[in-house]
Amino acid sequence: SWTPEKVIDETVERIRQQVGKERILCALSGGVDSAVAALLVHKAIGDQLTCMFVDTGCMREGEGEQVAETFRNHLHIPLVAIDAEERFLGKLAGVTDPERKRKIIGEEFIRVFEEEAVKLATEQGKISFLAQGTLYPDVIESTSHDTANTAKRIKTHHNVGGLPEEMVFKLVEPLRMLFKDEVREIGLELGLPEEWVWRHPFPGPGLAIRVIGDITKEKLDILRKADKIVIDEIRRAGVYRELGQAFAVLTPIQSVGVMGDGRTYGNLVAVRAVTTGDFMTADWARLSPELLARISNRLVNEVHEINRVVYDITSKPPATIEWE
Ligand code: XMP
Repeated sequence: SWTPEKVIDETVERIRQQVGKERILCALSGGVDSAVAALLVHKAIGDQLTCMFVDTGCMREGEGEQVAETFRNHLHIPLVAIDAEERFLGKLAGVTDPERKRKIIGEEFIRVFEEEAVKLATEQGKISFLAQGTLYPDVIESTSHDTANTAKRIKTHHNVGGLPEEMVFKLVEPLRMLFKDEVREIGLELGLPEEWVWRHPFPGPGLAIRVIGDITKEKLDILRKADKIVIDEIRRAGVYRELGQAFAVLTPIQSVGVMGDGRTYGNLVAVRAVTTGDFMTADWARLSPELLARISNRLVNEVHEINRVVYDITSKPPATIEWE
């Protein structure tokens, strides 16, 4: 029968055989999958693993600090944290098309990753492997006969003295036989904090696709505050785990309001919360009117740029979960 201990033992053994004495790099996203993948690799081969967290500037409030605190202090796993906010926001300036945002962030991420991998290799020796939190459903979804998938070719864009022009990473995917609920059990068993294990998924492009239209640091800061309020209140109401995802969306719509004895002209924020099994379909969550009222009051009182709040009551399909 399936037990987390058995899967951990088998996976750890497999990683040891695959990686040997080589070094391995794992990019943490703040999500469950990459964290559990890193924990398994760490259990298998200890400090041959280096974890990396790239702050794109489009992360939620406190995301980077939380990753650092959990990995460095709680799990004692070395972590390289990279502040890449300026370069990401620079590349994203003026971009409004959602697919272009995704493409820019994806490409820039790979570039940062390559550069840092080269730096690490220069300082501490060659890195041969890359760990990824690919799950079984992702494996069946992608064309599994694609052998190019088993090796990741990374072109280095600058010539760092003495290193090969091109680095080739072999992939380690310790979760590729597992489903999400199994990954959560293993995460708990390996000491990942409960709160982390039950985190809602967060899209790779992050808040960039929740600021509708063009992105600025100011807008991202507004959305970070709004997002934190939404999640705080949902947790406080005890419904976080019942939801598939919940978040705020900052729209470019401005509307007239009144506050004290003055007229305001502020931003419209939408609150989105859904229940879902597989994220392919989703229903808007029937949050209680009291909870919605608390969220709305806090948003307009605590974030002065926001003067109107709407709740998204569209299911998927026809809407998607994200707004972009
Ligand atoms: P939609 O909006 O398509 O979202 O209903 C379904 C799920 O996918 C997530 N999502 C993304 N995740 N990169 C990601 O890593 C993306 O570009 C992306 N777009 C959507 C979304 O948060 C939801 O969980």
